Amino acid sequence: MENVVKFINDNEKRYVDEMIEWLKIESISSDSTKNDDTRKAAEWCVDKLKAIGIENVKLIETGGHPVVYGDWLHAKGKPTILVYGHYDVQPVDPIDLWDSPPFEPTIKDGKIYARGTSDDKGQLLTHVFALEALLKENGELPVNVKFFIEGEEEAGSEHTAPFVEQNTEMLKCDAVTVSDTAWHSAKIPTIVYALRGLCYMEFKVKGPKRDLHSGMYGGMVQNPLNAVGKIIAKLQDENGVVQIPGFYDDVVPLSDDEKKEFAAIGNHDEELKKDLELPGLWGEKGYTSLERNWGRPSMDVNGVYGGFDGEGAKTVIASYGGFKVSSRLVANQKPDKIKELFEKYVNSVCPPGVTVEAEYHHGGEPVLVPIDNFFIKSAVVAFEKAFGKKPALVREGASIPITATFVDALKAPPIMVGFGLPDDQIHSPNEKLNLDNFHKGIICNAHLYMEFAKR
Ligand code: BES
Ligand code: MN
Ligand code: MN
Repeated sequence: MENVVKFINDNEKRYVDEMIEWLKIESISSDSTKNDDTRKAAEWCVDKLKAIGIENVKLIETGGHPVVYGDWLHAKGKPTILVYGHYDVQPVDPIDLWDSPPFEPTIKDGKIYARGTSDDKGQLLTHVFALEALLKENGELPVNVKFFIEGEEEAGSEHTAPFVEQNTEMLKCDAVTVSDTAWHSAKIPTIVYALRGLCYMEFKVKGPKRDLHSGMYGGMVQNPLNAVGKIIAKLQDENGVVQIPGFYDDVVPLSDDEKKEFAAIGNHDEELKKDLELPGLWGEKGYTSLERNWGRPSMDVNGVYGGFDGEGAKTVIASYGGFKVSSRLVANQKPDKIKELFEKYVNSVCPPGVTVEAEYHHGGEPVLVPIDNFFIKSAVVAFEKAFGKKPALVREGASIPITATFVDALKAPPIMVGFGLPDDQIHSPNEKLNLDNFHKGIICNAHLYMEFAKR
């Protein structure tokens, strides 16, 4: 491994230069005006995989943004690892809050700032460069490798999930490596073994066929925006308990062992309060903040729209209003069932005089990888070698919906070896990746594939 690590150290600058090339491509998957750029990001990835010696590299149509596939399958008798990542990125708004333009990567104090640095182009490249180093230095890879890189993770993997289900032979593997998560804190290298699921809904409340003068009509008709407020107020009670009948029916309660395990991670509430400049944390009564974030479902309104929010005042009753809302799910909640219950409940609490329409945007099931898994244990060893200390094994409140599809359709555990930090500001202005984590992440992943070969 010494020669491999030396190769990685010698190529440090080139890695950053190549990452910058990719980051400049504006692959915002949810913005159809950026479809050409999104495809260009996929093509960049195709070219890169070919250049490092991966075989059968191709861009495959899915009906949405294409996936990138490539493989190297000459390690007879060794495990086959699917390397997953996403080349799409989140939108950049609010653009005014960026200190440097989101698609002009900027290095400052050992960090690289741009959209997609941490989520997920930069993190994905740690695998590309690790495998390149192994292949260049050893002339072969220690395990069989298949790359599977998608372009609509940030938009719900709508076409990627059925693609996986329909191509299980092509994607067949023993485990999936994913670097798309963050450490628990800057000083604690972290492996994630569980993610929450998701059910993303939108409700549109429709009132009068046109906007009305609020004096001429006020008191005679239901106001759609008042109705939106009333509905939202009924989603949770004052203790943070979701009020949808049946919502908790399939939730697997946290065991005493799990609660102990979470408590052992330590209480970081004060730190969090300070960092977020909040008067206090809040959530479902009877649970610690980590229990709520990792082991309980949650519900958050993501946005409310309708009516007048311009400068000054306008006396108007809007013709419609609406809101978008996401529920994070835990085992064994199913997004399809939650969606039905949710729609029924909102209809039942919708005030008279307006109608409400439900739209399901996307969802995903939660995942939990048993930590006695060989591949997780190998990851622990790789982290120790690269970072000089034992990594923490934690759960995560966020979601990567396609990982549940890997478990169901491929029967392969996702091994979530992320190198992001909690302050990477993913999805926000000034997203960044620490270059030291990027570099050590490459070394870590080189160890990781070597460890996998010991099975
Ligand atoms: N990489 C994130 C998920 C993540 C974030 C894991 C932080 C661990 C720590 C992923 O790209 C993401 O943003 N997922 C979305 C899924 C959604 C858009 C379907 C999420 O969790 O909101
Ligand atoms: Mn991601
Ligand atoms: Mn993301």
